[in-house]
Amino acid sequence: MHQEIIARFDSLKEKQLSIDITRGKPDKEQLDLSNDLIDLSIPISSEDGIDLRNYGEPFGIIEARRLGSELLNAPIENILAGEQSSLLLAYQTVLSNYLFADPIPWKDIKNPKFVCPVPGFDRHFMMLDDFGIEAVPIPLKEDGIDLLAFEEALKDDEDFVGILCVPKHSNPSGEIYSDDNLQRMFEIGSNYSNKFLFLFDHAYLIHDFLPTPEQKPLWQVVEESNVQDQTVVTTSFSKVTFGGGSISFMATSGHSMDLIKKVRTTMIICPDKLNQKRHVEFFKDAATVKSHMQKHAKLIRPKFELAYEYLEKLPEECGTFSRPTGGYFITYSTSKPIATKVVELCKEMGVLITPAGSTFPKNYDPNDSVIRIAPTYVTKDELADAMNVFTTSVEMAHFGIEI
Ligand SMILES: Cc1ncc(COP(=O)(O)O)c(C=O)c1O
Repeated sequence: MHQEIIARFDSLKEKQLSIDITRGKPDKEQLDLSNDLIDLSIPISSEDGIDLRNYGEPFGIIEARRLGSELLNAPIENILAGEQSSLLLAYQTVLSNYLFADPIPWKDIKNPKFVCPVPGFDRHFMMLDDFGIEAVPIPLKEDGIDLLAFEEALKDDEDFVGILCVPKHSNPSGEIYSDDNLQRMFEIGSNYSNKFLFLFDHAYLIHDFLPTPEQKPLWQVVEESNVQDQTVVTTSFSKVTFGGGSISFMATSGHSMDLIKKVRTTMIICPDKLNQKRHVEFFKDAATVKSHMQKHAKLIRPKFELAYEYLEKLPEECGTFSRPTGGYFITYSTSKPIATKVVELCKEMGVLITPAGSTFPKNYDPNDSVIRIAPTYVTKDELADAMNVFTTSVEMAHFGIEI
């Protein structure tokens, strides 16, 4: 059996592949779905007469905020429509609390900490790291965060300032948080402090490609739990229209809304209102956005299925893999501590995978096990080669085959 694996390694190496499956990006066909947006002719005023070509409306034009309100199921007064990045809104949220949180700005807390469910999104960890905020990992379960671990983390420590979650199609392992899990999270966090921030990155809010467990709209659970002022939800159209060329939304309330408005007022005079208008004209309403997402689903789903075809061929003893119902990633968890080795072997055969460990704070996966696969961006032929390389690498590392 080892001879066969070595032969596969040699023939893949001979192909001199150069394939990058590190990031979850839409492919060209997905981007083409929104081409009409580029040449769309739009009026120069918003529906309430604001000149879109000039400064003004720092928190977004009314029609963009209405679309955000429909998508996030939050009242329009709780919605801010921003420029092209939801990550920027999350960053501004952390920044605003770092500088101005009441009664103590986070910068004046000796060792501020965030709870971070793992595996998670590397840029979230980078963001917290920028502020010297410690990301304290807790495990994810199928239906959301490990609530016991959450309670335990908060128990004897006064320096926690928030939690950062991707509540649907979690990046990278695809969990869907249940309403009960969210409601209990709110209970535990708000009992800990009425300033404890629930920061939700809802990047994959409408990105299902298979039937997905029902969730109540997040803002509804927020309202039922009465934590509007200590919750911030962000999302964007980065994987709806154009990566880095879309619009973003935030839902929040009370002091959290005041804080974000304060930092944004210093930082940016207003978002790109023309692009906001273009997006509203292109979609009109949330129902159209959702039917547009079905076109994405048709393109994405076969790529996940192709990846599974290869992963299913791996001996079960090597590890397990996720089968998400949406989002952009598959996680493979090796049963032995070999993730770093697998990623190195892939690189040797010309396939770049997100570095092992990057789905954990400080790039430290204690089990050296979790590997994130991003199947969407490459062509199907490239993906087939990449998965062949990946599975060959897993087998080589698992069975200790040295070349
Ligand atoms: C969880 C998560 N949040 C945010 C982003 C980036 O979103 P945006 O382009 O709106 O900043 C990504 C992109 O991969 C993501 O996976």
